[in-house]
Amino acid sequence: MNLSIAEANEIIAEVKARDTAIGRDMSRWWMYENHIQTAARVARTIASKIKGMNPEQAYINALLHDVSRTNERKEGRFHGILGYEKLINKDENAARSALLHMFPWNNLPAYEQCSKMFFENKKDYCFIQNYIKNTQMTDADLLTQLADSLANKTGFVTLEQRAKEYSERHKVAICKEDMEVHYRLKAYFDKKVGCDIYNLFTKMSTQTKER
Ligand SMILES: [Fe+2]
Repeated sequence: MNLSIAEANEIIAEVKARDTAIGRDMSRWWMYENHIQTAARVARTIASKIKGMNPEQAYINALLHDVSRTNERKEGRFHGILGYEKLINKDENAARSALLHMFPWNNLPAYEQCSKMFFENKKDYCFIQNYIKNTQMTDADLLTQLADSLANKTGFVTLEQRAKEYSERHKVAICKEDMEVHYRLKAYFDKKVGCDIYNLFTKMSTQTKER
Protein backbone atom coordinates (compact mmCIF):
# COMPACT_ATOMS: atom_id res chain seq x y z
CA MET A 1 0.00 0.00 0.00
CA ASN A 2 1.29 3.45 -0.90
CA LEU A 3 0.17 6.93 -0.01
CA SER A 4 -0.33 9.65 -2.60
CA ILE A 5 1.25 13.07 -2.11
CA ALA A 6 -2.21 14.48 -1.30
CA GLU A 7 -2.72 11.80 1.37
CA ALA A 8 0.73 12.46 2.83
CA ASN A 9 -0.08 16.17 3.03
CA GLU A 10 -3.36 15.27 4.73
CA ILE A 11 -1.44 13.34 7.40
CA ILE A 12 0.70 16.43 8.08
CA ALA A 13 -2.45 18.58 8.22
CA GLU A 14 -3.92 16.13 10.77
CA VAL A 15 -0.79 16.38 12.91
CA LYS A 16 -1.05 20.18 12.80
CA ALA A 17 -4.74 20.05 13.75
CA ARG A 18 -4.03 17.64 16.61
CA ASP A 19 -1.14 19.77 17.94
CA THR A 20 -3.31 22.88 17.75
CA ALA A 21 -6.21 21.14 19.48
CA ILE A 22 -4.08 20.02 22.42
CA GLY A 23 -2.78 23.56 22.91
CA ARG A 24 0.78 22.99 21.74
CA ASP A 25 2.79 26.18 21.01
CA MET A 26 2.40 26.51 17.24
CA SER A 27 4.65 29.55 16.82
CA ARG A 28 7.44 27.29 15.56
CA TRP A 29 5.28 25.20 13.26
CA TRP A 30 6.57 27.08 10.18
CA MET A 31 10.08 25.81 10.99
CA TYR A 32 8.88 22.23 11.04
CA GLU A 33 6.89 22.73 7.85
CA ASN A 34 9.83 24.35 6.03
CA HIS A 35 12.09 21.51 7.12
CA ILE A 36 9.89 18.66 5.94
CA GLN A 37 8.79 20.38 2.74
CA THR A 38 12.39 21.25 1.82
CA ALA A 39 13.57 17.72 2.61
CA ALA A 40 10.75 16.40 0.41
CA ARG A 41 11.68 18.64 -2.52
CA VAL A 42 15.38 17.81 -2.16
CA ALA A 43 14.63 14.07 -2.15
CA ARG A 44 12.30 14.32 -5.15
CA THR A 45 14.79 16.36 -7.18
CA ILE A 46 17.62 13.92 -6.54
CA ALA A 47 15.44 10.85 -7.17
CA SER A 48 14.22 12.33 -10.45
CA LYS A 49 17.80 12.28 -11.73
CA ILE A 50 18.40 8.63 -10.87
CA LYS A 51 17.16 5.78 -13.00
CA GLY A 52 15.15 3.30 -10.99
CA MET A 53 14.25 5.67 -8.17
CA ASN A 54 10.68 6.83 -7.63
CA PRO A 55 10.59 10.65 -7.20
CA GLU A 56 7.04 10.70 -5.82
CA GLN A 57 7.84 8.05 -3.23
CA ALA A 58 11.08 9.88 -2.33
CA TYR A 59 9.02 13.05 -1.79
CA ILE A 60 6.51 11.25 0.43
CA ASN A 61 9.22 9.48 2.43
CA ALA A 62 11.01 12.74 3.20
CA LEU A 63 7.78 14.66 3.84
CA LEU A 64 6.74 12.14 6.49
CA HIS A 65 10.13 11.27 8.02
CA ASP A 66 9.48 13.48 11.08
CA VAL A 67 5.72 12.83 11.23
CA SER A 68 5.89 12.04 14.96
CA ARG A 69 8.62 14.54 15.83
CA THR A 70 6.35 16.98 17.64
CA ASN A 71 4.81 14.22 19.69
CA GLU A 72 7.83 12.33 20.96
CA ARG A 73 8.28 14.12 24.30
CA LYS A 74 4.66 13.67 25.21
CA GLU A 75 4.76 10.01 24.23
CA GLY A 76 8.20 9.48 25.75
CA ARG A 77 9.35 7.42 22.77
CA PHE A 78 11.77 8.00 19.89
CA HIS A 79 9.94 9.75 17.02
CA GLY A 80 11.37 7.35 14.42
CA ILE A 81 9.59 4.44 16.11
CA LEU A 82 6.37 6.41 16.55
CA GLY A 83 6.49 7.46 12.91
CA TYR A 84 7.02 3.88 11.80
CA GLU A 85 4.05 2.68 13.85
CA LYS A 86 1.86 5.48 12.52
CA LEU A 87 2.72 4.77 8.90
CA ILE A 88 3.32 1.03 8.62
CA ASN A 89 -0.25 0.21 7.61
CA LYS A 90 -0.42 3.13 5.21
CA ASP A 91 2.89 3.09 3.34
CA GLU A 92 5.70 0.69 4.17
CA ASN A 93 8.35 2.76 2.36
CA ALA A 94 7.46 5.90 4.25
CA ALA A 95 7.34 3.93 7.51
CA ARG A 96 10.86 2.55 7.10
CA SER A 97 12.13 5.97 6.12
CA ALA A 98 10.77 7.42 9.36
CA LEU A 99 12.31 4.54 11.31
CA LEU A 100 15.80 4.85 9.80
CA HIS A 101 16.24 8.53 8.99
CA MET A 102 18.41 9.30 12.00
CA PHE A 103 20.90 6.53 11.26
CA PRO A 104 23.04 7.30 8.19
CA TRP A 105 23.95 4.16 6.24
CA ASN A 106 21.53 2.32 8.55
CA ASN A 107 24.24 2.26 11.22
CA LEU A 108 22.74 2.17 14.67
CA PRO A 109 25.12 3.38 17.41
CA ALA A 110 25.57 1.26 20.55
CA TYR A 111 22.62 1.61 22.93
CA GLU A 112 24.75 3.41 25.53
CA GLN A 113 25.50 6.13 22.98
CA CYS A 114 21.91 6.83 22.04
CA SER A 115 19.76 5.70 24.97
CA LYS A 116 18.57 9.28 25.55
CA MET A 117 17.27 9.49 21.99
CA PHE A 118 15.28 6.33 22.80
CA PHE A 119 14.02 7.73 26.11
CA GLU A 120 15.86 4.79 27.72
CA ASN A 121 13.49 2.38 25.96
CA LYS A 122 15.68 -0.56 25.02
CA LYS A 123 12.79 -2.48 23.49
CA ASP A 124 12.38 0.23 20.82
CA TYR A 125 16.14 0.25 20.26
CA CYS A 126 16.17 -3.53 19.78
CA PHE A 127 13.27 -3.29 17.34
CA ILE A 128 15.33 -1.03 15.07
CA GLN A 129 18.43 -3.15 15.58
CA ASN A 130 16.52 -6.26 14.41
CA TYR A 131 14.83 -4.37 11.61
CA ILE A 132 18.20 -3.27 10.22
CA LYS A 133 19.60 -6.78 10.63
CA ASN A 134 16.70 -8.39 8.78
CA THR A 135 16.17 -5.96 5.90
CA GLN A 136 18.45 -4.79 3.14
CA MET A 137 19.48 -1.16 3.02
CA THR A 138 17.89 0.71 0.10
CA ASP A 139 18.73 3.88 -1.83
CA ALA A 140 15.40 5.25 -0.59
CA ASP A 141 16.61 4.88 3.02
CA LEU A 142 19.82 6.73 2.17
CA LEU A 143 18.07 9.47 0.25
CA THR A 144 15.80 10.41 3.15
CA GLN A 145 18.84 10.46 5.45
CA LEU A 146 20.65 12.84 3.11
CA ALA A 147 17.61 15.04 2.39
CA ASP A 148 17.00 15.44 6.14
CA SER A 149 20.55 16.80 6.47
CA LEU A 150 20.12 19.26 3.60
CA ALA A 151 16.99 20.91 4.97
CA ASN A 152 16.75 23.21 7.95
CA LYS A 153 14.02 25.46 9.30
CA THR A 154 14.39 28.04 6.52
CA GLY A 155 15.10 25.86 3.51
CA PHE A 156 17.95 24.15 1.72
CA VAL A 157 21.36 24.12 3.43
CA THR A 158 24.65 22.52 2.47
CA LEU A 159 26.23 20.04 4.87
CA GLU A 160 28.86 22.69 5.59
CA GLN A 161 26.22 25.33 6.48
CA ARG A 162 24.39 22.83 8.63
CA ALA A 163 27.56 21.91 10.53
CA LYS A 164 28.39 25.58 11.11
CA GLU A 165 24.88 26.30 12.40
CA TYR A 166 24.99 23.28 14.67
CA SER A 167 28.33 24.16 16.23
CA GLU A 168 27.29 27.80 16.73
CA ARG A 169 24.00 26.81 18.33
CA HIS A 170 25.46 24.17 20.63
CA LYS A 171 28.86 25.82 21.08
CA VAL A 172 30.62 22.58 20.14
CA ALA A 173 32.61 21.49 17.14
CA ILE A 174 30.64 19.07 15.00
CA CYS A 175 31.80 15.51 15.39
CA LYS A 176 34.21 14.61 12.57
CA GLU A 177 32.71 11.12 12.13
CA ASP A 178 29.23 12.61 11.81
CA MET A 179 30.42 14.90 9.02
CA GLU A 180 32.16 12.03 7.28
CA VAL A 181 29.11 9.77 7.16
CA HIS A 182 27.07 12.60 5.69
CA TYR A 183 29.78 13.48 3.18
CA ARG A 184 29.79 9.82 2.15
CA LEU A 185 26.02 9.99 1.60
CA LYS A 186 26.44 13.10 -0.54
CA ALA A 187 29.28 11.55 -2.55
CA TYR A 188 27.14 8.44 -3.11
CA PHE A 189 24.34 10.52 -4.65
CA ASP A 190 26.72 12.90 -6.49
CA LYS A 191 27.99 9.83 -8.29
CA LYS A 192 24.52 8.47 -9.03
CA VAL A 193 23.28 11.82 -10.33
CA GLY A 194 26.50 12.53 -12.21
CA CYS A 195 27.18 15.98 -10.75
CA ASP A 196 27.61 17.80 -7.48
CA ILE A 197 24.06 17.66 -6.11
CA TYR A 198 24.47 21.15 -4.59
CA ASN A 199 24.22 22.46 -8.15
CA LEU A 200 20.61 21.20 -8.27
CA PHE A 201 19.59 23.46 -5.39
CA THR A 202 21.14 26.84 -6.06
CA LYS A 203 17.68 28.40 -6.42
CA MET A 204 15.99 26.48 -3.64
CA SER A 205 18.08 28.15 -0.90
CA THR A 206 16.31 31.45 -1.53
CA GLN A 207 12.83 30.06 -2.03
CA THR A 208 11.75 29.46 1.56
CA LYS A 209 11.71 32.27 4.07
CA GLU A 210 10.64 32.83 7.63
CA ARG A 211 6.97 33.57 7.97
FE1 LIG B 1 14.17 15.81 10.04
